[in-house]
Amino acid sequence: MLIFAVESSCDETSLCLMKSNGEVLSHKIASQEIHNNFGGVVPELASRSHLLNLQSLYKKCLTESGINPGDIDIFCSTCGPGLIGCLLVGSTFVKSLSIGFQKPFYAINHLEAHILSPTINNKIIFPYLCLLLTGGHTQIYLVNGVDNYSLLGETKDDALGEAFDKVAKLLNLPYPGGPAIEEIAKNGSIKSVLLPHPLEKSNTLDFSFSGIKTAVNLYVKNNIINQKIKNNIAASFQHKVTEILKHKIKICFNKFNNIKIDQLAIVGGVGSNKYIFAELKKMCSNNNVEIILPPKDMFSDNAAMIAWTCIQKLSLKNFQEGLHFKNDPRLQVGIKK
Ligand code: KG4
Ligand code: ZN
Repeated sequence: MLIFAVESSCDETSLCLMKSNGEVLSHKIASQEIHNNFGGVVPELASRSHLLNLQSLYKKCLTESGINPGDIDIFCSTCGPGLIGCLLVGSTFVKSLSIGFQKPFYAINHLEAHILSPTINNKIIFPYLCLLLTGGHTQIYLVNGVDNYSLLGETKDDALGEAFDKVAKLLNLPYPGGPAIEEIAKNGSIKSVLLPHPLEKSNTLDFSFSGIKTAVNLYVKNNIINQKIKNNIAASFQHKVTEILKHKIKICFNKFNNIKIDQLAIVGGVGSNKYIFAELKKMCSNNNVEIILPPKDMFSDNAAMIAWTCIQKLSLKNFQEGLHFKNDPRLQVGIKK
């Protein structure tokens, strides 16, 4: 069986042709550099770029894989959450193909695709904990199985990726801010700038990152900023948010001491941060928990995770075709415990 998937929820246009065993025949990810000068994604520019990218990437996918579009069995695309214009451009493109070739279309939840992304390259032991760290979401799930997720906690204000991007903007670093902060933090000292640890004394699994961002803002306003100080701010910020993540995972380990949890998945764009990974790994090793990650090109937004999620869900009896699914910018996954 051949699956064709498109991801276009934000500023990456991505297409993937995948076999039902997970073998990738072609996978294209076009990042939109047009937003770099704005310090964030401009929705209208993102929608227009998807429109420009889709046709040429589609042709490239077919040429690279040697696949005739008539041989594709299943069409799917991200239908939420995300920017509504971007979702509409991508899903309308794929829905049109599905109608034209008279093959089924399935709507995929972007967050669910991130959650399931490490199941393509790891031997999974359910239930696993999943730390979902993207530009728009920061959530912790207990993943009991495909289509069986419990939302344990989430951010009450900024998402972690958003906080990385905003701090980067304060330091005059390019967008997206995460990789830029990770890079300069290597030359900084982690304890040089005092930052708050919101909700430190609480047992909640919810997050709050806006106070840290405000503290960085104040520090930048009250000090003369040179490269050394920028490095120190980046290192202190990255360290503080890592401490917060570690604290939450510790709470999870205590909360679930009656359920055996063998794996912690770290997914989404921020999940590619090597400092965060190394620190969480140390903590997890002490608790005999394995960290599982998606393949390198499946941290940030990509269509391979969309195709893979479609394949996983097709094995469930209740997965309905989605030609009439209404794109939902706030589509959710899981039920809060
Ligand atoms: O998952 P993703 O590609 O898109 C969303 O679904 O939102 O995540 C994008 C976010 C951006 O905020 C970006 O700054 C952040 O992931 N990011 C990182 C790193 N690479 C990307 N944050 C910290 N460290 C990184 N290395
Ligand atoms: Zn994403």
